[in-house]
Amino acid sequence: MKDIIISPSILSADFANLERDIKAVEKYGADWLHIDVMDGHFVPNITIGVPVVKSIKAVTTLPLDVHLMIENPEKYIESFANAGADIITFHYEAAKDKIKDVINLIKSYKVKAGISIKPKTLPEEIIKYIDLADMILVMTVEPGFGGQKFMSACAEKIPVIKEYAPEDLIIQVDGGINAETARVCTEYGANSLVAGNYIYKSADIKSAIESLR
Ligand code: DX5
Ligand code: ZN
Repeated sequence: MKDIIISPSILSADFANLERDIKAVEKYGADWLHIDVMDGHFVPNITIGVPVVKSIKAVTTLPLDVHLMIENPEKYIESFANAGADIITFHYEAAKDKIKDVINLIKSYKVKAGISIKPKTLPEEIIKYIDLADMILVMTVEPGFGGQKFMSACAEKIPVIKEYAPEDLIIQVDGGINAETARVCTEYGANSLVAGNYIYKSADIKSAIESLR
């Protein structure tokens, strides 16, 4: 595994040219592909669902990093796993009393399991689940939309998580990541970066991806 896993968020891609935009990041060295699933309940926005994930799987070899911003994630794990997700991340806030069950369910499909926390959630709340998860996703904006401003206070959660993390835990950040904020996060100990606007709205996707490493 590379030191820093770059996971471009297709939320900022052109949905009418999704295959073209996926191939572009694949060509220029993306490690994963980040897919933002929103249900209009857990977050105000509605985006991508299972059929789109299935279609994406058919056109890329990149591992699919599926970020579920939905209520009752346990209802949809099987569908997303069968659609080809390689990593499924759900929100702690949407599954507080059933974290272990959701993780076990994800792992039962041989898919990596991630837990995500929103900006107002303290890192201490998830420490007890840290040994069960493959990845912790620290949101650095309020989930729901691309193109928001990086919240630096959220990045300060990374060292707290790192302190309790097993050696191979992936710590991912998502929201407002660019070359400068990526540096802040990797210095704190993040090793996976999601970026939507910074990559897809750039005139030079290759340089944008390279500048995050
Ligand atoms: C926001 C999503 C992000 C989003 C990031 O809720 O989880 O993955 O696409 O977009 P940027 O990088 O533009 O902030
Ligand atoms: Zn995301």
